[in-house]
Amino acid sequence: MKKSIGIQKINTAVFISGTGSNLKNLIKFSLLRNSPIIIKLIISNSINAKGLIYAKKYNIKKKTYGFKKKFLDEKKILVDLKKNKVHLICLAGFMKILSKNFIKRFDGKIINIHPSLLPKYKGLNTHERVIKNKEKFSGCTVHYVTSKLDSGKIILQKKVKIFKNDTVKTLAKKVLQKEHVLFPKAIKKILS
Ligand code: GAR
Repeated sequence: MKKSIGIQKINTAVFISGTGSNLKNLIKFSLLRNSPIIIKLIISNSINAKGLIYAKKYNIKKKTYGFKKKFLDEKKILVDLKKNKVHLICLAGFMKILSKNFIKRFDGKIINIHPSLLPKYKGLNTHERVIKNKEKFSGCTVHYVTSKLDSGKIILQKKVKIFKNDTVKTLAKKVLQKEHVLFPKAIKKILS
C-alpha cells in the first residue's frame, strides 16, 4: 500500500449502508492535521442511509447505487473511484458484498470494520449470536477485504467484556464505541 509522505494524504472513499457513526468518526479523524487520509467520496447502497447527512455537513461528494445490478453499479463505482484518485476504501457498516472482480481491482486497498472478534462470528447479527452463546468477550476487528467474507488479514482488534446484564443493544453500543477508536488506529497502522 502507498504510504503517506509528509502532508500528502491518501485519497479515501468510505462505503456505508446505515447510520454512519463510523463514517462521521473517520471524517473527524481525516480532518486532523496529521491524519494520513482525506475522504474524497462517500458511497452508499441506499438513499435512506442516515450517514449520508455527513456528506452534506462536511461537503464531501456522495454517490448512491442500489446494487440491484451489482456488476453495473460496481463498474460505475470504479469510475467514481478513479476520477477521485481513491487509493483506500473503508467499509464502514457497508452491508453489501463486493464482487471478486471489484476486490481484485482494489487488492490490498479495501479494509472493513466488523463488530466481532474475527474469526469468530463472521457475517450478520453478530451481537445476537454472541449474547445467545453467552460469550464472556466480544469486540471489533479491522481487516483487509478479500473475496472470502470477513476472512482477510486482521489489522487490529479490540476486546470488550460482556456482563451478565448486557443485551444486544448495550453490547452493540459498547462495541461501536471501541470501533470508533479502532478504525482510525488501524488506518494509521497500515499507512505509516
Ligand atoms: C458497525 O457496528 C459495523 O461494525 C457494522 O455495522 C455497524 C455500522 O454502524 N458492520 C457490519 O456488521 C459489517 N458486516 P455505523 O453505521 O454507525 O458506522
